Amino acid sequence: MQAIVQRSYGPPDGLTLEEIERPAVGDDQVLIRIRAASLNAYDWHMLRGKPYLARLVGGLRKPKRQVPGVDLAGVIEAVGPNVTRLHPGDEVFGPSNGALAEYAAAGQANYALKPPTITFEEAAAVPMAATTALQGLRDHGRVEPGQKVLIVGASGGVGTFAVQIAKALGAEVTAVCSTGNVDAARLIGADRVVDYTREDLAAMGERHDLILVIAGDRRLSDYRRVLGPAGRLVFIGGATGGNWVGPLIAVLKPRLASLFRGQKMATMLAKNRAADLEFVAALMEAGKVTPVIDRRYPLAEAPEALRYLGAGHARGKIVITV
Ligand SMILES: NC(=O)c1ccc[n+]([C@@H]2O[C@H](COP(=O)([O-])OP(=O)(O)OC[C@H]3O[C@@H](n4cnc5c(N)ncnc54)[C@H](OP(=O)(O)O)[C@@H]3O)[C@@H](O)[C@H]2O)c1
Repeated sequence: MQAIVQRSYGPPDGLTLEEIERPAVGDDQVLIRIRAASLNAYDWHMLRGKPYLARLVGGLRKPKRQVPGVDLAGVIEAVGPNVTRLHPGDEVFGPSNGALAEYAAAGQANYALKPPTITFEEAAAVPMAATTALQGLRDHGRVEPGQKVLIVGASGGVGTFAVQIAKALGAEVTAVCSTGNVDAARLIGADRVVDYTREDLAAMGERHDLILVIAGDRRLSDYRRVLGPAGRLVFIGGATGGNWVGPLIAVLKPRLASLFRGQKMATMLAKNRAADLEFVAALMEAGKVTPVIDRRYPLAEAPEALRYLGAGHARGKIVITV
């Protein structure tokens, strides 16, 4: 099969399109013929091995996994002997290592059936970004209908899902993004948009019940100023802790913030759950969520796609068609 291969940490130029063996299917696994994959900030970190802390997971001196990519949608080609939930021919979407390839083998548990009304490209855009947004709002942010939610970093992969899911859950949403994305944020449902290049977030004056910090490295005190006295602040990403810790600094910030009374701070690492994929798929079928796809690239141009993602201003998701 054809796959994008990564043999060392570094810039996207080091990636090559190669002919490699199809992955073997384990007893509890399914083999998926991939129709589309999508990129995440995670892929950018794993490509460069930065922050260095990422190498504890990805391999200390060189990447343990040679094929990048973690989100896909495709058709089940074969199933292991213990697989009962899914069958050859099923159209599925979910997380898998090695998504930038023609085939991937993965455990059955994390996959959801792709509704026929949703394209493979739309489904591939969902797994990491949409489940992060959903879990940030619902599980960590405990959002309730009518609450005021501020989404900082509303125009990227996670943010475009967060705005739409927050609206679907009944929240009143303020999106924070740069000038070029203001109209797009309104189009996906934001009630109010703050252009961070022109307006000072800390001077907004308005208090929110929930703030999701997805991008932008502001001081904690800036966020606390626009958070209600009993509000919740959920750190998803964006903080820059340098080459060693990188965005994982976001894990440390809430520890500090727990010293404050009233306002609650949390950090999160999204979990793979088929039930959450099904939840988002139902919102998509109901017309409440539509993945925002910024650009599409063929598999051979995945290095170019990663370079674009790495520049940090994607407008929604970047999809790789296989
Ligand atoms: N905790 C978790 O489980 C988890 C899961 C997934 C992702 N993440 C993290 O979440 C972050 C975002 O991921 P993503 O996939 O959405 O990335 P992405 O698609 O690359 O989007 C990044 C967005 O950040 C926005 N941005 C840049 N500077 C900003 C600023 N100062 N204020 C507000 N927005 C700003 C950009 O919008 P403009 O062009 O408008 O500036 C861009 O759209 C990453 O740090 C990633 O590591 C965490």
